[in-house]
Amino acid sequence: MEKQIETLQQQLKQQEKLASLGMLSAGIAHEIQNPLNFVINFSKMSEKLLKDLTEIVEDNEDKLPADDREEIDDIVADLKENMEKIVEHGERAISIIQGILLVSRGKENEMLPADINHIVKEYVWLSYHALRANHKGFNVSIVENYQPDIPKMMVIPQDLSRAVLNLMNNACYTVWNRSQKEGEDYKPTISVKTSFKDNQIEVSIADNGEGMSSEVVQRLYENFFTTKPIGQGTGLGMGITRDIIENKHGGHLTFESEVGKGTCFTFTIPAKKP
Ligand SMILES: Nc1ncnc2c1ncn2[C@@H]1O[C@H](COP(=O)(O)OP(=O)(O)OP(=O)(O)O)[C@@H](O)[C@H]1O
Ligand SMILES: [Mg+2]
Repeated sequence: MEKQIETLQQQLKQQEKLASLGMLSAGIAHEIQNPLNFVINFSKMSEKLLKDLTEIVEDNEDKLPADDREEIDDIVADLKENMEKIVEHGERAISIIQGILLVSRGKENEMLPADINHIVKEYVWLSYHALRANHKGFNVSIVENYQPDIPKMMVIPQDLSRAVLNLMNNACYTVWNRSQKEGEDYKPTISVKTSFKDNQIEVSIADNGEGMSSEVVQRLYENFFTTKPIGQGTGLGMGITRDIIENKHGGHLTFESEVGKGTCFTFTIPAKKP
């Protein structure tokens, strides 16, 4: 009895931590959105100004020495490219933030008809871009294999996307980590697959990363268990993912893993027609 109470108290504490974490990230995401919009809008405005400038230069072509003319053209082209990069990356940051907002405060537990392939694809690439933005020069091949024509199914979209994002983030992290140790010969690869059979949706994400030791396998779903350095992992991802798949969608989450070879997570969800 005492032990049970203790366990329950611990679970409660973790739930509280989770809830405040969710609120915190929603708050931060919200606050970052505004300054980010400024960055994007001013870059777009500057792009227009550059266009005006180019026109003025063109109108006065005959008054400028050829050398200067060439230099101005080069500078303007570079500036234009820089502005485009600022807009592109700013917009990506906005979409990541919108993902966080969606995840942390979307309507709770609402089942909606959704295109599974669309959700999987979107969050796989969101995770990929986040990885690329954080580790300049690193690349991983993503092998996609989506069964076409999977009918729309009732799911909790923001939860399902969160599950895909968690699995994909873990896969990205492990291939990146392995590449840091092994260098050139190692070819980081993540394979994503969806299928629909026996009235079940199946999604798998396989990486050729480090694999999991037996200790990690045992503690995988424990809240706050992480092998990542401080600041890089909270250790909540897998617990949340399993809760989403098994409790919220009545599905199954399984995995196969081998140290030095990689890991494949697979989840199935019984299909609910809209
Ligand atoms: N694909 C994988 N390959 C190797 N190890 C993995 C993989 N997925 C999970 N793990 C291990 O399981 C641990 C727990 O994963 P989990 O997603 O719960 O937390 P995390 O990724 O460390 O942090 P976060 O809360 O940010 O997701 C990871 O720290 C890692 O050691
Ligand atoms: Mg994780």
